Amino acid sequence: MAEEALSIVDKRTQAAYEIPISNGTIRAMDLRQIKTGPDDFGLMTYDPAFMNTASCRSAITFIDGDKGILRYRGYPIEQLAEKCTFLEVAYLVLFGELPTEPQLKEWVSQVTHHTMLHETTKRFLEGFRYDAHPMGMLVSTVAALSTVYPEAKHVLDPNVRKLQITRLIGKMPTIAAYTYRHSLGYPYVYPDNDLSYSENFMNMLWKMMEPKYQANPVMARALDILFILHADHEQNCSANTMRAAGSSQADPFLSTAAAAAALSGPLHGGANEEVLRMLDVIGSKDKVPAYIEKVKAGQFKLMGFGHRIYKNYDPRASIIKWAADSVFEVTGRNPKLEIALELERIALEDEYFIKRKLYPNVDFYSGIIYQAMGFKPEIFTVLFAIPRTAGWLAQWQEMIQDPEQKIARPRQVFTGHMIRDFVPLEKRGMPAAAATA
Ligand code: COA
Repeated sequence: MAEEALSIVDKRTQAAYEIPISNGTIRAMDLRQIKTGPDDFGLMTYDPAFMNTASCRSAITFIDGDKGILRYRGYPIEQLAEKCTFLEVAYLVLFGELPTEPQLKEWVSQVTHHTMLHETTKRFLEGFRYDAHPMGMLVSTVAALSTVYPEAKHVLDPNVRKLQITRLIGKMPTIAAYTYRHSLGYPYVYPDNDLSYSENFMNMLWKMMEPKYQANPVMARALDILFILHADHEQNCSANTMRAAGSSQADPFLSTAAAAAALSGPLHGGANEEVLRMLDVIGSKDKVPAYIEKVKAGQFKLMGFGHRIYKNYDPRASIIKWAADSVFEVTGRNPKLEIALELERIALEDEYFIKRKLYPNVDFYSGIIYQAMGFKPEIFTVLFAIPRTAGWLAQWQEMIQDPEQKIARPRQVFTGHMIRDFVPLEKRGMPAAAATA
């Protein structure tokens, strides 16, 4: 008998079953033996939106949503944000341990030497309309990298995987910066290998005629912290998409493009862009109470509030508020901050939000900082995609190496017509009896 087990009696048949419990879960496949007869398919679980289904075992990111805990590979997010660079954290997330000094040097050098885009990829980017949304450009360009590196399809070869991981971490800021410059009509800026990851990104975004770009160190550090906070978030919508697409052994560029597409939605990475639009709609601090009433009446959601997992507070939101202060010292206070703070104050006191455990999430403040730094809202989700690429690739690599994983293929509960006779075109639209007559 299993040490921890669940006893089930099927009231349809009175048969009793014992299902082993391991790590607080039962295996859905263990339910298949529960049948009403030999022709019965067996019991399945129904779980739209994966509300209570673990789809994998993972050793990357730990979240305790009730306590507001987020850890990468066991290290608290607060410590990593304070003490590490983004590339150090990306290494940790991707390879399981914090790098030693030589490992970090080697990793930074490799990533730095993979930041260039092939000129044909640059020309591909030039083909987008002047007002193309940067996220659409990013998704398409990441997918297009698959055509530049056809060897990426050998996903079972660890050396090939490592090279594509390095390429993606290196090229993501370059693609992101090019999408931004394209939307402004500015010429593209090539990567500068003397600069750190964040500084080089800023260089590619904002360098104009000066011979050498000098990044503001406070802004570069704030950007690095924002990247650290966004590096991974266990089985969120885009990570799940990465795993699902990658489970068919699609190459990592195509799987990353799929994950980035999932990120673009307003309920996921697109939320920070929506927060800014919402603050624009509200307009001023005194209009906040009226706006909250409309949210409570179900007219729309308060963007940047609520989370599937965090039901107490989002630890990333607290760190962002702290990073915001350093940015505002350089840029001056973003006037939208007043509205955001008022929104947060009122919402946190309101029964509607308290009862539903709705708190500000990471997107509530990140957009305000990004705007203060000079970014347009359209680019916010692209800024999210850069660091999250580390998480997607870590999830992908873990999935590929997990002997229990197969091509992801959920079951369904079929609710359609079981079988119908074909109706010729001239008889369609007639009452069913006449059509079949
Ligand atoms: N504003 C107002 N009400 C909200 C809300 C929000 N941002 N988020 C959730 N709710 C309400 C729902 O309407 C629902 O109310 P009900 O019980 O009266 O029907 C209740 O809270 C539970 O919400 P639900 O949609 O079931 O939660 P979820 O776990 O499926 O959704 C999110 C999580 C993140 C998708 C959701 O909170 C949301 O859409 N937030 C805004 C978008 C956002 O900021 N996304 C970024 C996430 S990092």
